[in-house]
Amino acid sequence: MTSTSRPVSRRGLLTGGALAAGGTLAAAAVVGATRDGGRTGAPEQVPVAATVGAATEPFHGVRQSGITTEPQAHAAFVAFTLRPGTDRAALGRMLRLLSDDAARLTQGRPALADTEPELGLLPARLTVTFGFGPGLFTAAGLDERRPPSVADLPPFSIDRLQPRWSGGDLLVQICADDPITVAHAQRVLVKDGRPFATVRWVQSGFRRAAGAEPGRTQRNLFGQLDGTANPKPGEPLETAVWIPDGPDWLRDGTTLVVRRISMDLETWDLLGRTDREFSVGRRLDTGAPLTGTAEHDEPDFAALGPDGLTVIPDFSHLTRAHVSDDRFRILRRPYNYDGVPAADGTADSGLIFAAYQADIARQFLPIQQRLAERDLLNEWTTPIGSAVFAIPPGCPEGGWVGQQLLD
Ligand code: HEM
Repeated sequence: MTSTSRPVSRRGLLTGGALAAGGTLAAAAVVGATRDGGRTGAPEQVPVAATVGAATEPFHGVRQSGITTEPQAHAAFVAFTLRPGTDRAALGRMLRLLSDDAARLTQGRPALADTEPELGLLPARLTVTFGFGPGLFTAAGLDERRPPSVADLPPFSIDRLQPRWSGGDLLVQICADDPITVAHAQRVLVKDGRPFATVRWVQSGFRRAAGAEPGRTQRNLFGQLDGTANPKPGEPLETAVWIPDGPDWLRDGTTLVVRRISMDLETWDLLGRTDREFSVGRRLDTGAPLTGTAEHDEPDFAALGPDGLTVIPDFSHLTRAHVSDDRFRILRRPYNYDGVPAADGTADSGLIFAAYQADIARQFLPIQQRLAERDLLNEWTTPIGSAVFAIPPGCPEGGWVGQQLLD
């Protein structure tokens, strides 16, 4: 059979001509196009399916990607325990290797000695973000450089923490719009990390599929719009998230708190709609505060209803979590999880609550403290895992993440 007599020609595939016909191999049409490229230069007729697979996020840069990056649909948070003997020099070797893997995979290139190189070709906006837990500083003999609030959080009365979801010396947060891309990156990074560290826990999560509801706030498994009051792009986000000064190795870095919070769908399902909305202080359909009509209306916590009570209950999640000063906001970048139900059908669902902030003590802790003291949502949510990491700045081409600290 000659190439011209094939039902789908190679040329057809490369120009996207076959996409309408079959819809398969879509990404072949645009491998190498970037998300930014998509906005500024890529042909507009490129099908969505193709752009999803081929889109890239930068790996190299002053700051690590995967933080203020628009959240991808899938994530794996992988926490490692360093092996005895993984000292500062070994950590340097490990991070050099893992940074190289990340630099390649995020750009749609297989890792060195990739055993499944075909799986490395569709980056789907893959980001790999490295975080340093308290134990890493100890292993490197650098305890004095650990920011004081990068430590286990104080215990809260609502906590039911399980060791299997808590702690970690090194975190690799892997996010992409395609679950196979995430799985492959996880496999490569775990394999290459093996001489230096063991896997402590992996938390896999998801949001809406890429393109399902572009630009919309995601929903958690209670059905709530989750992420409305995040700091707005520009100065508010800058101030809230990025560390502006301090030692080289921390400037343009941030910190991450990962809480695994189980959500009791069984008892939540027994609630009426009004009670559900009261517990958060926002409407389920639009996400509007109970005092407003649109998602981004400012909540009016003083407004009183005909019964003389505040329209937004004083113990609603919104009232208790609310922060009006941009400097003290946190950037929530949560993912849903949905494990295997129990034999009787009881759900194992919840939130991998990931919050980025410049300073845990000034930003995250006061909010968590208020929520632990009183928050209607506590009735249906239980923190079962907790971990804290310093997120070092990014690295230039040829460099590696953590170099400023460990080299
Ligand atoms: C499973 C647990 C949780 C669920 C289901 C949940 C859900 C929500 C929802 C639906 C909103 C309103 C919409 C929005 O602004 O995103 C919200 C707001 C918020 N939540 Fe949570 N949340 C959870 C845990 C937490 C935790 C652990 C913290 C921090 C310690 C937190 C901090 C916040 C903050 C800061 C806001 C914005 C408040 C404002 O300034 O208006 N949430 N959450």
